[in-house]
Amino acid sequence: MTAIRRLRPSEVSRAYDVASLVNDAYRAAQEQLFTEPTPRLSVESVSRIIADDEFVVYDVDERILGAVLQRDTSLRVGFFGVLAVQPDSAGSGIARALLDFVESQALARGVEIMELDLLLPDTPTPHQHRLKEWYERRGYVAGSSRDFRDVEPEAAQYLRYPTQLVRYSKNLRLTNDVTSKLTF
Ligand SMILES: CC(C)(COP(=O)(O)OP(=O)(O)OC[C@H]1O[C@@H](n2cnc3c(N)ncnc32)[C@H](O)[C@@H]1OP(=O)(O)O)[C@@H](O)C(=O)NCCC(=O)NCCS
Repeated sequence: MTAIRRLRPSEVSRAYDVASLVNDAYRAAQEQLFTEPTPRLSVESVSRIIADDEFVVYDVDERILGAVLQRDTSLRVGFFGVLAVQPDSAGSGIARALLDFVESQALARGVEIMELDLLLPDTPTPHQHRLKEWYERRGYVAGSSRDFRDVEPEAAQYLRYPTQLVRYSKNLRLTNDVTSKLTF
């Protein structure tokens, strides 16, 4: 059975599975960005995120094929990150389904703005370029940006190109209104 759901804090024993999925999914993208890629998340940090009730997963018969971290940063603003899909299931709509879920659940809670951070190298890498196009198609708009050297100096020394961390945001209400106007 397929389910998209928030992992319960009592499911912290799934941290190893989620960390493996995230690190497998990020490997190729990290190689395009860094000369010495490192795992995206440790099992310990995934455990903390699950304990804080912040991981949403896409699972099929108990096998987790996709995951995304989602937290509300205020009553009106939500944030998602660490969106990851098992490489052998890529391209089948799992990431789209996860984002549809977190955006609609957030809207139902009264959250109006959803945010994400995207690494954008000055020389676009194929994966980051694809992500940028996809998020923009979904209604996300680029806002403030920071030089990644000022955000994570340790990791930034291995960047292949100068890179900005760009904050994107989407007005969930506006986009939903626009979508319903287009549909009818
Ligand atoms: C990014 C990622 C989560 C996408 O997962 P996925 O399940 O393959 O994505 P989906 O099949 O749901 O497709 C999402 C969109 O990308 C498009 N897409 C899928 N494969 C593509 C490809 N090879 N080239 C270009 N676009 C592609 C789809 O058409 C879809 O766009 P649409 O909704 O406008 O139709 C996955 O590649 C991944 O885990 N990457 C590594 C981690 C990462 O970069 N996370 C994001 C950090 S901000």
